[in-house]
Amino acid sequence: MSLLDPIHAVLKRTGLDAIALVPGANFLRVFGKDFHQMERPLVVIVPRTGSPAAVVPNLELGSFKPLGFPGEIFDWRDEEGYMEAFLSAGRFLPQLGKGSRVGVEGQRMRVFDFLALQQALPLASFTDAHAVISTVRLHKTPAEVAALREAIRRSELALENTLPQVKVGMTEKDIESILLRELFAAGCDGISFDPIVAAGDNAAKPHASARSDYRIKAGDALLFDYGGRYNHFSADITRTFFVGSVSEHDRAFYETVLAANSKGRAFAKPGLTASAVDDAVCKVLENSQFAAFKRHKTGHGLGLDVHEAPQIMRGNQQVLEPGMIFTIEPGLYRDGEAGVRIEDDVVVTESGIESLTTFPRELRIIGL
Ligand code: GLY
Ligand code: MN
Ligand code: MN
Repeated sequence: MSLLDPIHAVLKRTGLDAIALVPGANFLRVFGKDFHQMERPLVVIVPRTGSPAAVVPNLELGSFKPLGFPGEIFDWRDEEGYMEAFLSAGRFLPQLGKGSRVGVEGQRMRVFDFLALQQALPLASFTDAHAVISTVRLHKTPAEVAALREAIRRSELALENTLPQVKVGMTEKDIESILLRELFAAGCDGISFDPIVAAGDNAAKPHASARSDYRIKAGDALLFDYGGRYNHFSADITRTFFVGSVSEHDRAFYETVLAANSKGRAFAKPGLTASAVDDAVCKVLENSQFAAFKRHKTGHGLGLDVHEAPQIMRGNQQVLEPGMIFTIEPGLYRDGEAGVRIEDDVVVTESGIESLTTFPRELRIIGL
């Protein structure tokens, strides 16, 4: 049993000769610890045969050594630069010569990491293996599901404690500050991402930023897309409320999104493809009077990264299997007027899915 077994399994499955990892979610899953990506490169190279090599900034050695890396470490100091350490690592890996193929994390490795690696292994060819490397995170362990469940419990408590403090006339920034305070008060380790607190026309932008110059008023939709982190796992929750009152048109708009969300939660089960789930959810929106206001797919995998595999998207033939976690987050967006999204985090079980998010979804008026 080695730390690198999951990576060796990917090497065997793909026929790649080596995989290079940089800090990030895959690194964290493999080593149980992450490092900040900064101006100092840290790259681990795991060959299919032979001993692995790691290029590590000297100031990180105290954190890296206790991980129990089963290979050779090439450290480098600020004053000498990193290139000699990369070249030494390359000489240590002669099996990665002409004709060898090295998989890298295309969505994570920076260009300067890559150029240094290329110089270290000048005869190897490189391929973007991000998707296949990330399969080490596709199925969550019971402990990982428990961590996300706890992140969600704390995040939902924070939202429940935020809502009574929301009043007509507050800015989105005011409300965001309250939410952030409540997330930390609820015991979250950190936040999954900068929260989206968006009212009225701003809610029609799926990834809006909170404004300090707009005061919420009666009839506004107020969308929260946010999450707290716990033990490295990030909740990703969206609920949309109405401030003071709701028009009949907006009520129908909301109920359409809720019907799509409910469809996804009722429909998803192991054995279906991610494409089939997206199709079922999208059809609810597309067959409604609001079809023109759909902007995005149903959801994405969720774990150590907030957006990861499996993407819940038409065309993705990934079959859902127990232990996978993803979001169901249909939304509708009327530019310049209002947006509604309702987002749940679900885990695939042996017989269906369980929604880890339990915050009520019925239309709720707040801010009175
Ligand atoms: N929140 C919608 C999306 O990123 O697809
Ligand atoms: Mn979200
Ligand atoms: Mn999401």
